[in-house]
Amino acid sequence: NATITTASLMALKQRREPIACLTCYDAAFAQLLERAGVEVLLVGDSLGMVIQGRPTTLGVTLDQMVYHTGCVSRAATRCLVIADMPFMSYATTERAVETAARLMGEGGAAMVKLEGGAWLAETVAQLARSGAPVCAHLGLLPQSVHQLGGYRVQGRDPEGAERIRSDALALQEAGASLLVLECVPSALAESLAQTLQIPVIGIGAGNRCDGQVLVLHDMLGLTPGRAPRFSKDFVAEVGAGTGFAAAVEAYLSAVKDRSFPASEQTLA
Ligand code: KIV
Ligand code: NA
Repeated sequence: NATITTASLMALKQRREPIACLTCYDAAFAQLLERAGVEVLLVGDSLGMVIQGRPTTLGVTLDQMVYHTGCVSRAATRCLVIADMPFMSYATTERAVETAARLMGEGGAAMVKLEGGAWLAETVAQLARSGAPVCAHLGLLPQSVHQLGGYRVQGRDPEGAERIRSDALALQEAGASLLVLECVPSALAESLAQTLQIPVIGIGAGNRCDGQVLVLHDMLGLTPGRAPRFSKDFVAEVGAGTGFAAAVEAYLSAVKDRSFPASEQTLA
């Protein structure tokens, strides 16, 4: 079982095998997810909500992201580990380079993720030139929740869809290696996955993306309160008592055969 690289993700896209990704914040789950065969571990700033109990991701610090990225990357030797750049840590290109240096150098991530569109093209290009592969993130941008006025579907109107499309093309052109699309209509996600050369990983974006990601705690039924509609509790599906590994294996096979997300987890 070879190490997963950006080239392996491209190869999966080319042979139309969906890429399985989950968020991960610690060594124990990193080992469990890697053994199950998940390809990509995202140390998401969603840890602010599921680990720290915050209402948004905005309070997560770079020190905290470096700490959790280290916890994951020390245990995952085969998975590709992506670390989120926290709120405002890439507000300028100079800061983005310093942030990536810590997440990759101290934290051991193989890729960094940032939220936003074409205005980040120069930052993405500078990161890529410096040796930091970049995952872009479009659609619902949780770090912009106060700008967006809530967590809701993006790109439903023609202008919104066109903006997401042109942002995606600009970021690919700038050198992004991967794109996460969050909470967009499945038709838009499908057409972007077809248009872009780089793999498109969806969350709340239908089953025609090049891969899927979920917040680990949502898919294990551990999220306090109501989990997002596009998520699914795989522990409930396999039966409590069969364990987390069985739930992750069920997720993996559902991603691979595109039975997840089904229509009930898909936004139009
Ligand atoms: O922080 C996170 O978990 C994420 C995923 C929702 C893509 O960014
Ligand atoms: Na995130």
